[in-house]
Amino acid sequence: STDSQYLVVSNREPYRHDWEGDDITVDRPNGGLTSGLDGAMRRLGGTWIAWGDGDADREVVDDENRVQVPPDADEDQYTLERVWLSEEEQENYYLGFSNRVLWPICHAALTKVESERRHWEAYREVNRRFADTVAERVDEESVVWLQDYHFGLAPSMIRERTEHDPAIAHFWHIPWPGPDTFRACPHGEEILRGLLGNDLLGFHVDRYCENFLRCVDELIPMATVDLDAGVVHQPDGRLTVRSFPLGVEADRIQEQSTGAASHARFREFADEHGIDADGMLALGVDRLDYTKGIPERLQALERLFEEQPDLRESFTYVQIGSESRSEIPAYEAVQAEVAEAVERINDRFGTDDWRPVVYETGYVSNETLYALYRAADAALVSPIRDGMNLVAQEYVAAQAEDPGALVLSEQAGIHDRVGDDVLSVTPQNTDEFASAIREALAMSDKERERRMTSLRREIQRNDLESWTETMLDEIAVVDASRHGR
Ligand code: G6P
Repeated sequence: STDSQYLVVSNREPYRHDWEGDDITVDRPNGGLTSGLDGAMRRLGGTWIAWGDGDADREVVDDENRVQVPPDADEDQYTLERVWLSEEEQENYYLGFSNRVLWPICHAALTKVESERRHWEAYREVNRRFADTVAERVDEESVVWLQDYHFGLAPSMIRERTEHDPAIAHFWHIPWPGPDTFRACPHGEEILRGLLGNDLLGFHVDRYCENFLRCVDELIPMATVDLDAGVVHQPDGRLTVRSFPLGVEADRIQEQSTGAASHARFREFADEHGIDADGMLALGVDRLDYTKGIPERLQALERLFEEQPDLRESFTYVQIGSESRSEIPAYEAVQAEVAEAVERINDRFGTDDWRPVVYETGYVSNETLYALYRAADAALVSPIRDGMNLVAQEYVAAQAEDPGALVLSEQAGIHDRVGDDVLSVTPQNTDEFASAIREALAMSDKERERRMTSLRREIQRNDLESWTETMLDEIAVVDASRHGR
């Protein structure tokens, strides 16, 4: 219902304030999710509660830790309420339980799980603090919308803390594993019970919904699971579980990736990095995470350069990699592994005029990124496991002129929707992966055009706005059934 008051909760904040000398700067949302929800919140109004991690975040808030955003008062604004985390909490809640336990469990990377009691304690404590903050803001009109795996306990905690009985919805942005894997999760049953406090729980694809329901069925005896209907019945409520495929801002990306400015921007990047702008180009864009399959991709490229000498000097692979969660040893390790593999390939095959792999870990603007997408003859997206993957979608959205080909891992959620029009790979199968890249580069213009037309249609139909609208519509449904509104 339109008079609802939205309370959004996420770990990352949509606006971040930082010191630059004596001035305070504001970082505008950059990631797909924060910018998409930001648009919705500007329209709807309400409060967005998130961890304030900017070094000047405390300077700009009122005595209730709130600031109006966007900063320009001429625009529609909403309230950003910041929650503060101590260094220890960042270490144990964010880097600890969230990213050393839940992240690897949900991506089925069981050997990466590192569980310590202080991680769990901090996770509970921070979930409590967010639940308290929500409970203070909730009123008759409120609808609560939580984001992601940082808040597995918060839904039930919010229920315990308020008499207002708000509708609570949650979107889980990463995969959910089957019971076999989830059984390995320390405190897994508590996480399930926490999530059962929701009225609505969303995942990217149907498989994750089924996995979640099967976990509840096996591990929570009190709950009755209706797998076909996607509903969990409990003594004190009912949870609807549904898929909502997350999309990208397809129209904006298309607009910004086409035309003369984009071409010029690409030539500039090529110049700066010693790339032959008229040669063949493949592109990878990733957070440096062990789930993204970057070493596997480099191995496939190495195989390709071995087997197909004619690609030498005529084909370049550009890897954009942004450092992420570097304090965790498994992340540090993948950064080192990628850097070594790049160096090895360049040493083995590089010549005076040509570097086979260009590796950029510095800041890359959206402008440049979209120009690279447009220019690339192929994108290589090869996660070992990935909830959805937005890079594949951004690449497709940027292919309005002179389309390229998409090489895509079967383990990315997006593959469920576009499998017919991509070159599918199992990233660990080096020979298959190398052939897929070869095929992508050799594909006729006509075939690229045919596939890309179909891919673009799918990405435009299920874009970010449609995700937001569909989710808000479904939230309104559970809200209505809770309150007879
Ligand atoms: C994934 C998660 C997001 C997270 C992002 C970046 O996409 O689903 O919740 O914000 O990674 O990771 P970071 O740890 O830097 O927030």
